Amino acid sequence: MTTAQEPVLAIDGPGGAGKGTVSRLIAERLGWHLLDSGALYRLTAQAAAKHGVPLDDESGLARLAETLDVAFLAENGNARVLLEGEDVSRAIRTEEVGERASQVAVLQRVRNALLARQRDFQKPPGLVADGRDMGTVVFPQATLKVFLTASAQERARRRYLQLQESGANASLSSLLKEIQARDARDMQRAVAPLKPADDAIELDTTELSIPDVVDRIQGLLARSGLEPSV
Ligand code: DC
Repeated sequence: MTTAQEPVLAIDGPGGAGKGTVSRLIAERLGWHLLDSGALYRLTAQAAAKHGVPLDDESGLARLAETLDVAFLAENGNARVLLEGEDVSRAIRTEEVGERASQVAVLQRVRNALLARQRDFQKPPGLVADGRDMGTVVFPQATLKVFLTASAQERARRRYLQLQESGANASLSSLLKEIQARDARDMQRAVAPLKPADDAIELDTTELSIPDVVDRIQGLLARSGLEPSV
């Protein structure tokens, strides 16, 4: 349980709902720490590929997750992620690693192994925590819980544009299928499934721009007494 005094803003939701960008912008605005919990599952999947650990070897994967040698660096506004000293910032963002991360994430022992590491991010002056189970499992006492959604079609469209911008090839229809498959796995798993906490505020971003979402959350923060209204 979250017992420390530092405030936590939990932002959960399915992939492509805008959590990553919104969480980063709000953390920057507040000067708070940022936990990208999905990156930890992606890093575990990446480490498994590197060390030849099969995705059904729960104890092997839990050991990897426990001893994961990772560093999150912020240099001149650029976030970098190192795995065993190697820059994997781009490598862990592929659809393939996302898919493997989702498979690793169904395993209870892997989730347990990553729990303390995630809670360590709760430091003064506060934390913005981005993931699937921030409000339900990792920070159940979070000061404010937001659950971001968007239609699968819209999330596929956003991902498609992102990939096009970065020069990668993508097909909208296969992205939509991948998103639907990943949603189903994340929502149906027995352990810490993707779902809004009972006290989360749901925000559908299908028709909203990123600045709109940031403004809405800022309004919610102000109402929770966490940030002065603008
Ligand atoms: O947010 P993301 O796409 O980087 O997450 C990758 C996968 O990791 C996602 O499909 C499910 C898993 N995940 C999770 O189970 N719990 C979290 N708190 C964050 C991510």
